[in-house]
Amino acid sequence: MVTELTKGVYWVGVVDWAIRKFHGQELSTHRGSSYNAYLITDEKTVLVDTVWGPFQEQLIENIREVADPAKIDVVVANHAEVDHSGGLPAVMRHAPNATVVVSQRGKESVEGHFHQPWNFKVVKTGDKINIGKNDLVFVEAPMLHWPDSMFTYLTGKNILMPNDAFGQHYAAAFRFNDQVNQEELYEEALKYYANILTPFSSLVLKKIEEVLALNLTVDMIAPSHGVIWRKDPLQIVKKYQQWAKQEPENSAVIIYDTMWDGTRLMAEAIGQGLAAKNVPYKAFHVAVSDRNDVITEVFKAKAIIVGSPTFNQGVLPTITPILEDLKGLKFQNKIGAAFGSYGWSGEAVKIIEEHLNRCKIQLVAEGIRAKWQPKSADLVRCRELGQKVAQAISA
Ligand code: FEO
Repeated sequence: MVTELTKGVYWVGVVDWAIRKFHGQELSTHRGSSYNAYLITDEKTVLVDTVWGPFQEQLIENIREVADPAKIDVVVANHAEVDHSGGLPAVMRHAPNATVVVSQRGKESVEGHFHQPWNFKVVKTGDKINIGKNDLVFVEAPMLHWPDSMFTYLTGKNILMPNDAFGQHYAAAFRFNDQVNQEELYEEALKYYANILTPFSSLVLKKIEEVLALNLTVDMIAPSHGVIWRKDPLQIVKKYQQWAKQEPENSAVIIYDTMWDGTRLMAEAIGQGLAAKNVPYKAFHVAVSDRNDVITEVFKAKAIIVGSPTFNQGVLPTITPILEDLKGLKFQNKIGAAFGSYGWSGEAVKIIEEHLNRCKIQLVAEGIRAKWQPKSADLVRCRELGQKVAQAISA
């Protein structure tokens, strides 16, 4: 259902209640998502972003409720990833002479995706396009979250359309932040930040400072996923500033896999050591846990304690994706430790420790290895490891 944000500005996107995996199979979306596109009817008719390809005909029908799609003069493609640009072919079939506004890298990327000779206009930070009573103002936002990403600001209506930034994978019955469950909204906003934006945190801080320095009045922040921040719109900007500082809470996450429960028993003993020192923790058996939810907990916690039995002289393969995330997401201000049971060669703990070092996660306790099933003395050492990590958290 088309929703009017303010006079002459309409949400014409699609709510996808069914999607449970995004980026192919990479990102879990337990609460679905939405692909937000915005139609502006000024003297010119402007579409800001489109939708994922499978929904492009629904986009056209939504546009048609407000204006003839053939009348679109300008299409802004803030970001070329196909959940936002996938509707361009349908839009451009209806409005073949429309100008497609992109960043320089957006042009490369949109051309690379669609191989079409559309009428591109490349913009950079500070460029304006007059659309009648109001202007579109552009701010390049490379690495928030792709090199081509940019923000579009609509003067007069004071609406910032920052594409993925400030978004959430959150299907909802209503379009605005004041109409949905706040706990769910912030869970999804944080999961989005933790899994997508963490490695670009320093750029997030700089970009927010740059945008705030423009002294733009912002009445709404309308991202490309999830709900539109209408009530106190800068609340999500302040949250991003807080998250981007990566100041974790005094808690721990234990991440492990196990074959015959030896490493599980060690994980539980480590947890007992943390709890004995009043440090809250969560333990995840990664083989049966959602990787993106685990990463969100990693983002929040100060300590990351990773365990694996030794398997083929390495770690269990189910641990590897999380280790890759620890490297790729470039978490800051974390401490860690490693543990695991083994039967023969026993390399896993050393491999994990080397990996944590490469991820700049400071080791604060010597790793614990237990041969075969952990003995009572091994579990005592595990509890001591938990206590050492707890002390380092509180230090
Ligand atoms: Fe929502 Fe980067 O795509």
